Amino acid sequence: MSEGWQGWDAYAPFYDWENARTLGRRDVAFWKRIAKSIDGDLLELGCGTGRLLAPMARVRAGAGRTIGIDRSEPMLDRARRRLRRMPVALRPALIRGDVRTWPFRPKRFKAVVAAYGLLQSLVRDADVNATLDAAAAGLSRGGLLAIDLVPDLSAWEEYERRIPLKGRLSAGTTLTLVESVRQDRRKGLTIFDEQYIVRTGRTVRRHEFQLTFRTLPMDQVLTRLERVGFRIDHVLGGYRGEVWHPEADTWVILARKR
Ligand SMILES: C[S@@+](CC[C@H](N)C(=O)[O-])C[C@H]1O[C@@H](n2cnc3c(N)ncnc32)[C@H](O)[C@@H]1O
Repeated sequence: MSEGWQGWDAYAPFYDWENARTLGRRDVAFWKRIAKSIDGDLLELGCGTGRLLAPMARVRAGAGRTIGIDRSEPMLDRARRRLRRMPVALRPALIRGDVRTWPFRPKRFKAVVAAYGLLQSLVRDADVNATLDAAAAGLSRGGLLAIDLVPDLSAWEEYERRIPLKGRLSAGTTLTLVESVRQDRRKGLTIFDEQYIVRTGRTVRRHEFQLTFRTLPMDQVLTRLERVGFRIDHVLGGYRGEVWHPEADTWVILARKR
């Protein structure tokens, strides 16, 4: 079975390009509001290219450190380049590490953010449990754990070699994404086989990688959060505070450390 952290190194050059064409900035205002409300250190798990970490840090002047942790060096490299444009005083710190075993002292953080389905990159129960245990240990009393999940993965149709995206990456370079999707229903996994074709003039390069995500049932996540010492404050069905229901296209959980 593929590990959920695999694939991201090869995906890094294409992540922001693809994300801008799918999710866009739909979640940014929500995470900025969360970040602005926190007085103290904030950690983003799986911060990737800094897509959310940068806007979160920009609204936190004088409010504590903003830190991102990610396992993928190429994703962090993209984040580093993005953060270079920020004033030093606001610039978040980046740590290379695994969200299941993090290197921070207990009770350091006032908030931990697991955005855009980060928990779904953890393909076994033991991985999710280790991550939630680490978050519980790393948050101070009353600290916020903010999670969003992408719930409809298990409903994705399976297909072979479709082209969902095609366009310009930069002057003279075009990208074509060729994608296959498989469902492993027994394990609750959705597996994406991706091939990016990069054309610059007559040169054609192909980049292939696989990404695996798990569908996490809401009741299991809530039960586990309560078991490791969280109180569930809000369960929402979208970034604008929509009421949660199982068919909502985004699931948001806000929990406080007891
Ligand atoms: C969907 S991306 C999210 C990136 C960013 N939060 C965003 O919203 O754009 C998931 C990120 O989690 C990282 N990741 C996956 N499993 C991880 C693990 N076990 N430890 C640390 N990072 C991990 C990947 O490298 C990737 O950058």
